Amino acid sequence: MLSKTILLAAGSAALALSAQAADPAAASVAEDIPAARVHPERWPEVAFPTVLTEAGEARVQAILARMTLEQKVGQIIQADIASVTPEDVRRYRLGSVLNGGNSGPGGDDLAPAQDWLALADAFYEASMDVGPGEPAIPIVWGTDAVHGHSNIVGATIFPHNVGLGAARDPELIERIGKVTAVEIRVTGQEWTFAPTVAVPQDYRWGRAYEGYSSDPALVAAYVGSMIRGLQGPPSTTPILAGPHVAASTKHYLADGATTDGKDQGDAAISELELRLVHGAPYIPAIESGVATIMTSFSSWNGVKLSAHRGLVTDVLKGRMNYGGLVITDWNAHGQVAGCSNASCPRAVDAGIDMFMAPDSWRMLYDSTLAQVRDGTIAMERLDDAVARVLRLKQRLGLFDMGKPSQRALSGEYELLGAPDHRAVAREAVRKSMVLLKNTGVLPLQPGGRILVAGDAAHDIARQSGGWTLSWQGTGLDNSLFPGATSLWEGIEQAATASGGSAELSPEGSFTERPDAAIVVFGETPYAEFQGDIASLQLRPELRRPIATMQRLKQQGIPVVAVMITGRPLYVNEALNAADAFVAAWLPGSEGGGVADMLFAAADGAPAHEFQGLLPTAWPATAQHGGETLFPFGYGLRYAHGPRAWTALPEDSGVSDDGSDGGVFFDRGVPASSWSLTVSRADGTNALRVTTVPAEALGGRVRIAATDHGVQEGARSFAIAAHAQGAAIELSTFDPIDLSRETNGDMLLLATVRRDAPIARPLSMSVRCDGEPCGAAVPIAEFGELAEGEWQILGVPLKCFRAAGADMTRISSPFRLMADGDAGLSIARVALGSLSDADAIADCPAE
Ligand code: BGC
Ligand code: BGC
Repeated sequence: MLSKTILLAAGSAALALSAQAADPAAASVAEDIPAARVHPERWPEVAFPTVLTEAGEARVQAILARMTLEQKVGQIIQADIASVTPEDVRRYRLGSVLNGGNSGPGGDDLAPAQDWLALADAFYEASMDVGPGEPAIPIVWGTDAVHGHSNIVGATIFPHNVGLGAARDPELIERIGKVTAVEIRVTGQEWTFAPTVAVPQDYRWGRAYEGYSSDPALVAAYVGSMIRGLQGPPSTTPILAGPHVAASTKHYLADGATTDGKDQGDAAISELELRLVHGAPYIPAIESGVATIMTSFSSWNGVKLSAHRGLVTDVLKGRMNYGGLVITDWNAHGQVAGCSNASCPRAVDAGIDMFMAPDSWRMLYDSTLAQVRDGTIAMERLDDAVARVLRLKQRLGLFDMGKPSQRALSGEYELLGAPDHRAVAREAVRKSMVLLKNTGVLPLQPGGRILVAGDAAHDIARQSGGWTLSWQGTGLDNSLFPGATSLWEGIEQAATASGGSAELSPEGSFTERPDAAIVVFGETPYAEFQGDIASLQLRPELRRPIATMQRLKQQGIPVVAVMITGRPLYVNEALNAADAFVAAWLPGSEGGGVADMLFAAADGAPAHEFQGLLPTAWPATAQHGGETLFPFGYGLRYAHGPRAWTALPEDSGVSDDGSDGGVFFDRGVPASSWSLTVSRADGTNALRVTTVPAEALGGRVRIAATDHGVQEGARSFAIAAHAQGAAIELSTFDPIDLSRETNGDMLLLATVRRDAPIARPLSMSVRCDGEPCGAAVPIAEFGELAEGEWQILGVPLKCFRAAGADMTRISSPFRLMADGDAGLSIARVALGSLSDADAIADCPAE
């Protein structure tokens, strides 16, 4: 394990080294920024195993020799199933498809397993439908099976990686990989974008839970196991000949090192730290023959990884001998300096072998083709990329395997969530639990009356976290998890089996006094940048169960706190209030594993010993980099016996209250640092609305309070027609960068009610740095809302980008304009996903 002192010493050595980095040899590495130059000779030499026979390699070369330029370009492009049809695949000879977090067959990411397999067949058949003399190259389908086959209804959902990191059990990790591979094979995909081998250094990062640990040695100890479980041991036997799929380690490199934990941000660290901390997991990954590596959205010292030739070609493929395929992340090439979603020769030049171009594939195909023709992209580089795509397919066995539905395991739907698969997941849940406090209430004795409280107790989506059925893991209810067990259900079963009883009451009320209460609380699901936070604490509305714990404690009822969370957070109030505290992370579909740890066996002794140890330090305050409460590796055991508790200071140590940055207006009032104004459409005659009732534009717009959820939880706007129109606007002085959100297909969600007819269609626009930017987008859907009914109307951020707005500096994300009579109320305006909207505005595409 790498100690902090070594790291610090190493960091200063690296500073000394980088001071000399201006030598001519280093400068020959083609990077514009000196701090982003690498020294490949300082990186380890690694051996990539032999995974193709000589005959296999000869076949790859023979196919390559017969391909047209168009076919070659098609092979290095991956499109998303939401934006590509089998006919497109046939026509453009695309090499691959993926399903993004919100994509599914027929536009339904909750489509039944049968539909996934049928679509896999359709894509395969399209890829094999070739003209005379043309080589048939089967397509490969990639999916984010990041904690089980987690896009599929009914699949086994394993704990997210942060919990697995706590388990300290590489052998278990291999079994999880095996089960995941089997379930993927049932629905016909051949490739998972897992495991994430990030080594998060700042848990404010919204993807920290996708990494096993902040400790590189622990991450590295798991990588080989997971890859072996998914792919099988490195061998020249085709991967698909066994119960396996291709894996992908991601996101290369230092996705977990970005400044302030900003997703897709910049890792401003030395080359030494880059190599020792973030590079560490790639050594076992390469040794295990990982079939693919995905580059990160993020940058290292200002250069995006998707176009970092030094790291991709010179280090990874050169020095470290990586023989597999390198794919970019979701339109990440569009973020490279000088590139757009539609064109990025620099990424190919840097050593990328496949573009993940979900909705941009068509334009990218045209531009890439033209760039090879005019020599911008070297033919040898294209051939190398295509050869790597073909090797992946040969290694999988795709050329000889027939269509997906004919392969072993395909269509064996009973394997999705099979009992022995769920048993592995339940074991993983048990092993991932970390006991942080126990003054003696645990284990719960047989025969007791148990109260189960907290808003997270009976919510399988919540206990599963992001990347579960939908991208953000939001918009789901328990009915979408057939065969799964919520924490409440697991506790109820255990309590009843022990001869006792359990009562569920989220707010903690009870009819008969319980012997003990279990309060389940914590984070709600998020993925990627949506989960980035400014400080290490729960959002205010998620802290309510802590008050429940305090109330129960005052009543003398012993309290067990169970925290559902993707990361350690400041929760001293809960730690003080509860008599026992268990970090349950994001356990997934087998909530019974939590109860296994809490209840005693019939003889009163613990049924299972706690094994989990913190995969990263637990903070004493909400401040990143502040003091540690429990160090990395901390975790109590039943064998230790009860422990006395000294009350912790209840001071988060930060001034922000943990409120969500993606909310601009809530309960009828602007979020802090936002203001609500009403003006003419051109912005003149503005009135900042601070109290209601109010009148703007000489009485032509009347603003009043109206109820939504809570009393006066919304504002109503009665607008009378006016030549200069009227605009309702939310703005801030400190512009925000919404480019990632736009790329991520996020929407502006307005919780609105139409109160009167809308005479002329309303339109919307945004402002950049206080100035109008881009055209107004007509949103006819406002007029179509049922009168008097609250609805969440989603306006894709892409609409504004298409209308010409610069999404990197938005000062007004919401400007609603009327030029006729209208009446509507607004309760909330926030960013969100497709699944959060009741209706979605149809606006002109890019
Ligand atoms: C994520 C990747 C994921 C890909 C496909 C990206 O936004 O960063 O981890 O594999 O989307 O869904
Ligand atoms: C997709 C995800 C992807 C993300 C990129 C979403 O719309 O569903 O798979 O990772 O965009 O930011």
